[in-house]
Amino acid sequence: MRPETIAIVGAGRLGSTLALRLSDAGFKITEIIARDNPRSLAQGRRLSRSVKARTCIARRGTLDATIIWFCMPDSKIAAGVLEFARRDLRNKIALHSSGVLGSDVLAVMRESGAAVASVHPLMTFVQNSQPQLHNVAFALEGDQRAVRVAKKIVKALGGKPFPIRKQDKIAYHAFATMICPLLISLLAASEQAAKLAGISATEARVRMMPIVEQTLVNYKHMGAAASSSGPLVRGDTDTIGQHLSALVRNPALKRVYSALAQAALVYLPTRNRKAIARLLS
Ligand SMILES: NC(=O)c1ccc[n+]([C@@H]2O[C@H](COP(=O)([O-])OP(=O)(O)OC[C@H]3O[C@@H](n4cnc5c(N)ncnc54)[C@H](OP(=O)(O)O)[C@@H]3O)[C@@H](O)[C@H]2O)c1
Repeated sequence: MRPETIAIVGAGRLGSTLALRLSDAGFKITEIIARDNPRSLAQGRRLSRSVKARTCIARRGTLDATIIWFCMPDSKIAAGVLEFARRDLRNKIALHSSGVLGSDVLAVMRESGAAVASVHPLMTFVQNSQPQLHNVAFALEGDQRAVRVAKKIVKALGGKPFPIRKQDKIAYHAFATMICPLLISLLAASEQAAKLAGISATEARVRMMPIVEQTLVNYKHMGAAASSSGPLVRGDTDTIGQHLSALVRNPALKRVYSALAQAALVYLPTRNRKAIARLLS
């Protein structure tokens, strides 16, 4: 067992995977702290069973762990930490994993003696999926003592810690949102384009996987420019015009197509830029 012991506050998507991965990496999870309602407590108990921890609500928590890791939604952190105010938190570390919020949202914990940091993993956590954290980038920001300990924990998880400045967090989170939730949004919109061609969303998902996977492999090895193909690279104005006509039946989809094509004109090698830009405007 490692010397740091950890209490997890919030047994949701991040909290559940984090607790399991920390436990796998040899950290003792002491408490899963849930809200005082049957559903939240049941969720907490399920997680506690798999990591051999206690389940409790904040005011009953012993807080005997050296680290308290807030895994509640961003909008709940500021109010959630108040439940821990006026406890003796000397020598403790308080962490949260919001991409947007700085460590200062844990100021109440700092006032009670804890060192605080934000520790944001560039990974997606959804129900029924528990990703590995190997090679995952973790953005760290906060008090020196807390960042030092968080760095050790991230390395023990196989992750890659790096410092982030408080003022850069929001732009960084916009980046994180573009590469995951908005990538899924693109795939969901693509299903609608398939629907216009008479293909169901389920069938579209099956058919698109080989090309989506190859595109990601190309991007990984060669970068964006060398992975571009299709009518924009060829400067095929007529084809793009035909696409736009076909998409008239779904105006929202046409807007998505146009916005992404406009981004390609700016960031990727394309031919006939001016003519295509006119079509898209
Ligand atoms: N999901 C991701 O992909 C991801 C990725 C990177 C970072 N994060 C960060 O991880 C954090 C958690 O996000 P999430 O997606 O895991 O949210 P989530 O699935 O909604 O889970 C949040 C959990 O916190 C609990 N909770 C809320 N208020 C609480 C309180 N006062 N005391 C104890 N537990 C409380 C909720 O319980 P109830 O269900 O009872 O409300 C729920 O179990 C956020 O800061 C988010 O920015 C998430």
